[in-house]
Amino acid sequence: MMQSPQRTMGKNLHFIIIPPPFQGHINPSIQLTLKLASKGFTITFVNTHSTHDKITKTCDDDVFAGARESGLDIRYRTISDGFPLTFDRSLNREQFLEGRLHVYPAHVDELVGQLSGSDHPPTCLVVDTFSTWGSNIAWKYGLVYVSFWVQPALALTVYYHHELLKKNGHYGCTDTRKDTIDYIPGVRFLEPTDLISFFQETDTSTAMHRLIQKAFADVKNADIIICNTMEELEPEAISVLKEKQTVYTIGPLFPSQFTDQSVEMDLWPDSDCSRWLDSKPPGSVLYASFGSYAHSNKEDIRAIADGIMVSGVSFIWVLRPGVVNCEAVDYFPDGFHEIVGNIGLVVPWCKQKMVLSHSAVGGYLTHCGWNSILESIWVGVPLICFPLLGDQTINRKLVVDDWKIGINLCEGKFVSGDQVAERIKLVMNRETSHVLKKNIEQVRKTLENAVGSNGTSRVNFENFVDDVQARSFAKN
Ligand code: UDX
Repeated sequence: MMQSPQRTMGKNLHFIIIPPPFQGHINPSIQLTLKLASKGFTITFVNTHSTHDKITKTCDDDVFAGARESGLDIRYRTISDGFPLTFDRSLNREQFLEGRLHVYPAHVDELVGQLSGSDHPPTCLVVDTFSTWGSNIAWKYGLVYVSFWVQPALALTVYYHHELLKKNGHYGCTDTRKDTIDYIPGVRFLEPTDLISFFQETDTSTAMHRLIQKAFADVKNADIIICNTMEELEPEAISVLKEKQTVYTIGPLFPSQFTDQSVEMDLWPDSDCSRWLDSKPPGSVLYASFGSYAHSNKEDIRAIADGIMVSGVSFIWVLRPGVVNCEAVDYFPDGFHEIVGNIGLVVPWCKQKMVLSHSAVGGYLTHCGWNSILESIWVGVPLICFPLLGDQTINRKLVVDDWKIGINLCEGKFVSGDQVAERIKLVMNRETSHVLKKNIEQVRKTLENAVGSNGTSRVNFENFVDDVQARSFAKN
């Protein structure tokens, strides 16, 4: 292990925070950075060159400049992910993930090595749980290893116990069992169709499957796991995880005021929807978005467009470049373009938190990304669920089956325009959405309490910091 100079307790803690290059991971990492820096610690936030290139097209070159001016010690570094800037990471996902497995760790190692030789060496490495190299690098440089989980604890528990799914034939086989899964600790029951989408795939030799295998072996070496969720929201899954490792739930990680734009790293240029929204009556606009990572197909997009048209509601629909996995330029049904501009906006990206918190928005047709779910709960907007990838299938279960704050867009995999229209009307109608809104208010209070004074997430965050201090002291 390399010896580093003068590491001490207290204010001298130095965290390196390295999010994967995806919006849904970057956003909570920014909030974590601000929270830790506000306690007087030094943070080095690390992006890839490619992420940096994208965000500087949409925001300031130095996104933490304002935070630094207000006295926070946040440093910013970029490293290569092994591919040229021109490489399309979204279209060539398999190749990109291979690079993350085999090339990227060497670039992280090089940077952490450089920082370890500096005047103020790092004491703690915070890496996303989907990373495969956290323990190697943390051990090499004598750092506290914190694994950062940005999805619900339910999803973490299922990933954590994925060997059990294999053993029981619920993972990846063509003759996969169809019966209810009732053997994962902390998960009372789960239908196979709600499993994380990667476990439902038949080809389990992909880079994603190998990454999962390695990452969820590595998380077992983490000193600490922190999760962007709340104890009260997912008590069973969290208590089981706590039996195995040191876990702190510190969510929800977003700015309490959704109008706060102080530190943003948008990967796409956003369209300003505020004036358009200002002209709409309260609760009358459907917001639709499928997040930052997953793709959909043109048939489903067409059916959803059909349903939106038939429903007649006003809408903002975010269709980021490349969200549809085909070359077709126009996949909308006849007549759709005429209604856009009249009752709708189709934009490549928006300030989602600002849109969701606008009084005109009454429902969110969502891909069920965890940040989006938490953001929608925070502002009391009920959900229509159209999960696409990864944890989104299991998140749907939480929203629809457990908390009853949203409904399914369709039953099974088939999306039909008529059904979409019916579901949209149900959520957008004041009377038929009454129960959903009542339930979401309950869940919203849970989030609010968790971050309120003496709230669990607030207390856990303090305990997390104390724990890192004690561990970094012990290491030096
Ligand atoms: C994936 C996973 O499914 C999710 O559970 C995990 O937490 C992150 O990675 P992703 O597609 O990134 O999901 O969705 P989500 O978690 O909802 O995060 C997207 C973020 O981008 C949200 O914070 C949302 O506010 C923001 N966003 C999205 C915008 O700012 N503008 C948009 O137009 C769309």
